[in-house]
Amino acid sequence: MSAAPVDPRRRYAFVGTGHRAELYFDAILHGYADVAEPVALCDTNATRMTYYQRLRQRVSGASKPLPAFRPGDYEDMLATVRPDAVVVTTIDASHADYVVAALDRGIDVIVEKPLTVDAPSCRRIAAAARRSSARLVVTFNYRYSPRNASVKELLLRGEIGEITSVHFEWLLDTVHGADYFRRWHREKANSGGLFVHKATHHFDLVNWWLADTPTTVYAHGSLRFYGAENANRRGIGRRPERSHDADTANDPFALDLAGSPRLRALYLDAEREDGYLRDRDVFSQGITIEDNMAALVRYDSGASLTYSLNAHAPWEGYRVGINGTEGRLELDVCERASVAGRAGDIVGTPRPALDPTAGSAGEPATGSRREGSRLLLQRHWQPATEIDVADEASAHGGGDPRLLDDLFRPGRDADPLGRAAGYRDGVLSVLVGASANESLARASPVAIDELYPGLRAEPDPEPHEDRIRATGAARLTNEGSA
Ligand SMILES: NC(=O)c1ccc[n+]([C@@H]2O[C@H](COP(=O)([O-])OP(=O)(O)OC[C@H]3O[C@@H](n4cnc5c(N)ncnc54)[C@H](O)[C@@H]3O)[C@@H](O)[C@H]2O)c1
Repeated sequence: MSAAPVDPRRRYAFVGTGHRAELYFDAILHGYADVAEPVALCDTNATRMTYYQRLRQRVSGASKPLPAFRPGDYEDMLATVRPDAVVVTTIDASHADYVVAALDRGIDVIVEKPLTVDAPSCRRIAAAARRSSARLVVTFNYRYSPRNASVKELLLRGEIGEITSVHFEWLLDTVHGADYFRRWHREKANSGGLFVHKATHHFDLVNWWLADTPTTVYAHGSLRFYGAENANRRGIGRRPERSHDADTANDPFALDLAGSPRLRALYLDAEREDGYLRDRDVFSQGITIEDNMAALVRYDSGASLTYSLNAHAPWEGYRVGINGTEGRLELDVCERASVAGRAGDIVGTPRPALDPTAGSAGEPATGSRREGSRLLLQRHWQPATEIDVADEASAHGGGDPRLLDDLFRPGRDADPLGRAAGYRDGVLSVLVGASANESLARASPVAIDELYPGLRAEPDPEPHEDRIRATGAARLTNEGSA
C-alpha cells in the first residue's frame, strides 16, 4: 500500500477579517493555491468572517466552511488547528497579543504594519521573537515598490557617498487622508495616531534606505483640519454623525457604504454586531489623532531626517531628498493628481464617491500635475540624471504583488535588497512614531533608548548589512543592477 501524498501547502490562519485581510486571502486562493491554503478565521465580528467564507466558496468551490473563532478562542485555534503561520490583520492595538501568542507556540507570523502601537508592546514582541524558533515578517509593502527599491539600490552602490541627511514629505489627500478620521484610526489608543499608523511605512523606508538606527526624535503635530472644533472654527454647519445619514452624492467627505457591495457586506451589514461604524463624519467629535505632523529624527551615524505628514492635501504623493557626501538623490511621486470636489467646501461639486480602500488610482489627472514618479541622481560636479523607474499603477506603487511573492514563495536569499522585514525592523519604525508621540506630549526631544532601554545592545538577529552582503551587494556594486 503506498503512503498518502504529503500536502505541500503551508496552512495559514487569518486573524482580523476586514479590508486588508482580503489581499492575502485572495492571493492564497488565486496565485498561491499550490503552496498555501487558508485553514481558519478569527475575528470579533461573525459577519465579516462570513464574507471570507463566501469568498472562499466562490473562488475554490469549497463547501465546508473554515473553522471560525472569536478572539477569546484564539489560543484554542492555535492549539487545535495548528496552522504553520498566522496572518494578523486586526486593528493595530491588538496586533501584539496575537503575535506574541503565535510566536510562543512556534508558529510563524505575517503581521500588517504597524507591528504595534507603543513601546511596551514593542518590547513584548521583541522578547517573544527572541525566545521563539518561529519567523515574523512585517509586511512593509512600500519597500517593494520599484521606485523605493531603486533608491535603495543607488544608495547601496554608494552613488551619493555617505548619507548626511534626508528630507521626507508625505501628502495624503482628502480621499485617503480623510479615511483615517472616520473609524478606529481616529483614536490614538487604537492606531498610535498617524505618527505610528501611517508614518511607520515612511520611517521604515528611511531606516532601510540608510541601514541605520534612529536615536532621538523631536516632534510637533496637531489636529488642524478634521474634527468638530476645526469645523466650527471654519463655519462648517452641523453635519450628520455618519455618512450613511448624509447626502453622500454632494459631500466630498462622505463615504457611501450602501453604494459599494463590498463595503456594505464588510461593514454596513456587520455593524449591528459590534457597533463599528466605518463612515463616521470626519468633522465629528472624538478624534484624538493629529492631521499635520512634523518630526526631526537623529540617526546613529549622525544623519538626520526632517519629516512631515499632511492628511488633507489636494493631491497624494511624496517627496524625498537624500543628501550625501558625493551628491543628492531626489524622488518625487504623485499617486493621485487631484480629487474632484473642493476640499474645505463641504458642499463640493457632485462627483461619484471614491472608495478609499480601492487604492490610489481614482480619478484621471487633470491640470498641470501628472501621476507618476521621477527619480533624479545628481553627483557633485555633474548634471542631474533621471533614473528609469518601472512605475506601476497597482496598490502601493507596485509593492503589493512583489510582497506577496516574498511572503508565499519566499526567496529571501535571492533578494539583494533585503526587503523582507523582520521584527526588529517593525520595532524600530514603531519606536520612531512612539517617540514622536511622546515628544508631542512632553514638547521636548525624546531619546528612543528612554522608551526601550537596551534596544541597541540587543543583538540584531539579521543584521541589515550582513543580510545585504550575504545576498549580493557585491553583485550590485560590480554589475550596477539588481
Ligand atoms: N500595508 C498597507 O498598505 C495596509 C493597508 C490597509 C490596512 N493595513 C493594516 O491592516 C490592518 C487592518 O486594517 P483594515 O483596513 O483591514 O481594518 P478593518 O477595520 O477593515 O479590519 C480590522 C478587522 O479586525 C477586527 N478586529 C478588531 N479588533 C479585533 C480584536 N481585538 N481581535 C480580533 N479581531 C479584531 C475587526 O472586526 C475587523 O474585521 C491594520 O493593522 C492596518 O494598519 C495595511
